Amino acid sequence: MDAIVLLKEDHKTVEKLFKQFEKAGEDAYDEKRKLVDQMIEELTAHTYIEEEIFYPAVRAEAPDVSEHVLESVEEHHVVVWMLSELKDLDPRDERFDAKVTVLMENVRHHVEEEENEWFPEVRKAMGRNRLQELSDQMAKAKGKAPDEPLAVPSAKQ
Ligand SMILES: [Fe+2]
Ligand SMILES: [Fe+2]
Repeated sequence: MDAIVLLKEDHKTVEKLFKQFEKAGEDAYDEKRKLVDQMIEELTAHTYIEEEIFYPAVRAEAPDVSEHVLESVEEHHVVVWMLSELKDLDPRDERFDAKVTVLMENVRHHVEEEENEWFPEVRKAMGRNRLQELSDQMAKAKGKAPDEPLAVPSAKQ
């Protein structure tokens, strides 16, 4: 396993939840609540391990990618605040589906930039062994990830 493969697997897990949400009936409130709770859990843990381990390593060891990382942190900031709002929003609220739709647009845009615009540069700059080390660190950090989206560092930056 290497760090980029691990992160892409998380992205796939989240995309599956998005697709299930899009397929859920408008009145499937329990199902939509459950899916959004899973999105909150997955995305909170994912943004946490990226911000605690992957992004700082990339800034230090692949400085040419720094601007992409800074932009990514700003995108995380918006995403974790949306997650914290969704945590307490009733799926029957007229704003619920709209908020999830905008969350999905933001995350898809973010994932597309990570995977296509800068992860390939990181792979070139950091190499296989280093990416394997980072993958181990991230897998461990996942166990310590917070449940609360606003506990992710970018929330307060
Ligand atoms: Fe990210
Ligand atoms: Fe990511």
